[in-house]
Amino acid sequence: MENTLFGFQPITSISFSNDEIIKNIMLLYNIERFDLDCTYSIGHFWKNLPQPKNKSDLLPKRKDIIEASSDNLPFKKDTMKSIMFDPPFVIAGQTYKDNDKGSSIIAKRFEGYKDFNELKNHYYGTLKETYRLLQNGGLLVFKCQDVVSSGKNHFTHCLVMEMAMQVGYYPKDLFILMAKNRINSFNGEKWKNQYHARKHHSYFWVLKKDKCKVNYDF
Ligand SMILES: C[S@@+](CC[C@H](N)C(=O)[O-])C[C@H]1O[C@@H](n2cnc3c(N)ncnc32)[C@H](O)[C@@H]1O
Repeated sequence: MENTLFGFQPITSISFSNDEIIKNIMLLYNIERFDLDCTYSIGHFWKNLPQPKNKSDLLPKRKDIIEASSDNLPFKKDTMKSIMFDPPFVIAGQTYKDNDKGSSIIAKRFEGYKDFNELKNHYYGTLKETYRLLQNGGLLVFKCQDVVSSGKNHFTHCLVMEMAMQVGYYPKDLFILMAKNRINSFNGEKWKNQYHARKHHSYFWVLKKDKCKVNYDF
């Protein structure tokens, strides 16, 4: 909590900035520095925050980043207290890398999956692998976003919660990142009609390696 002139300002679940959400998670959960970012990319998350102790990515952009898939990481079990995971979220099809300039913009920038099954396998595999690496009570921070694919809404953040509980995590907290602007694919040529709300938010799950304290059975 932040000390203000009027007392304590509680940490809130919403923000317009990645930085603020990660900083708030670190403050609330006493993380001085993450033990690992397993989808480091260019490290945009850490521009104004302490760098994680270990950095890895399937496609490392620099020499100091370990090349590894997040579902098969070269670290010992029960050794970490905090891990950041910010995987791709777009279902882009088999050939998105070869698509014309102006197509598959988000996937080309952040990578993507050929289909929803590939996304599920990667997310589930990483939940299991990070669970192996975390000490009891350790935290996985998992950024995710819902997507429309083949004309249907896919509520990925619900799937992440279900998978996480199945692996043994306790869904401890959820932060929502809002966006004022989004890359616009409604350019009047490709899409003529709108069928679902345009998403201007994504999520940061805080998943704890701990027994689930809420009974979600029904
Ligand atoms: C959304 S970007 C992460 C951006 C990063 N948080 C930053 O601050 O710059 C997703 C990253 O996940 C990586 N990635 C995709 N599949 C992966 C896998 N199986 N294992 C590890 N990293 C993967 C991509 O190479 C990409 O760098």
